[in-house]
Amino acid sequence: MALTTIDLTPRVGSEIKSDLDTLLSGTVAAELRQLLVERGVVIARGIAMSDDQQRAFTRTLGNLRLGTVKSEGEGGMLKVTLDKKENPTYAEFFPGTFFWHMDGTYDQIPPFATVLTPRVLSPTGGFTEFANTYAAYEDLPEDEKKFLGTLQVVHTMQSAMWPSYEDVTVEQLALWRSYPVRTHPLVWHHHSGRKSLVLSTSCARIVGMHPAESHDLLQRLMAWATQPEYVYRHRWQMNDVLIWDNTGTMHRVTPFDPDCGRQLHRFTLNGEEPVVGAA
Ligand SMILES: [Fe+2]
Repeated sequence: MALTTIDLTPRVGSEIKSDLDTLLSGTVAAELRQLLVERGVVIARGIAMSDDQQRAFTRTLGNLRLGTVKSEGEGGMLKVTLDKKENPTYAEFFPGTFFWHMDGTYDQIPPFATVLTPRVLSPTGGFTEFANTYAAYEDLPEDEKKFLGTLQVVHTMQSAMWPSYEDVTVEQLALWRSYPVRTHPLVWHHHSGRKSLVLSTSCARIVGMHPAESHDLLQRLMAWATQPEYVYRHRWQMNDVLIWDNTGTMHRVTPFDPDCGRQLHRFTLNGEEPVVGAA
């Protein structure tokens, strides 16, 4: 079945026209996966999905993530909320989601994709933004691509969380340090043949580079990859179903009133390939 698609920006994000039965049937799953890798973000609007239906839909696209280091939530469903009563574990990490990041860089095989639906909207702000790290890589000068292709980057949870807090407790630090430290190539050579930049707030340092030079290079690449032409900003409406390719995008949420009750439900797919650099 050929999906009707509309590009939301030239470089990232497509809207599809579909319905609940079609999405649940799995008949468009292969096409959706292809579109995800090509466009980074895929959105369907006007589709009311229960939690069980969202789980079933996610399963049509791959292998449901139940968690590696920590549980991904009940039956794979994670409530994205600042409300500690709703999700005490996630609330601790939520401040980190206001900064550009990839999910699960602490895993050797980071998650492939995530399906997100809104349950309580924020009256102002609370947009979710996505930056296409395939497109950002492809536009770099050839000599820089060559150089970046030689680099490895250490990812830590501490690095991802520092920017969110003015000060940290010993307990917070211990929680962050309970996640694995992982070294990934800076340039990911995907099975598909495409290449992307593996950038995230979790990037702590470039292996073998002076910390100051490493800091400057990572900052410069982050600014490059999040230029407006690589970014899609999603303004949530009820009954949106949004899927993003975690392996070829970064994401963040824009600030909103922490007491507004904003909540989304997310189901994630396990990764399918490790971050592999040049042979
Ligand atoms: Fe995230």
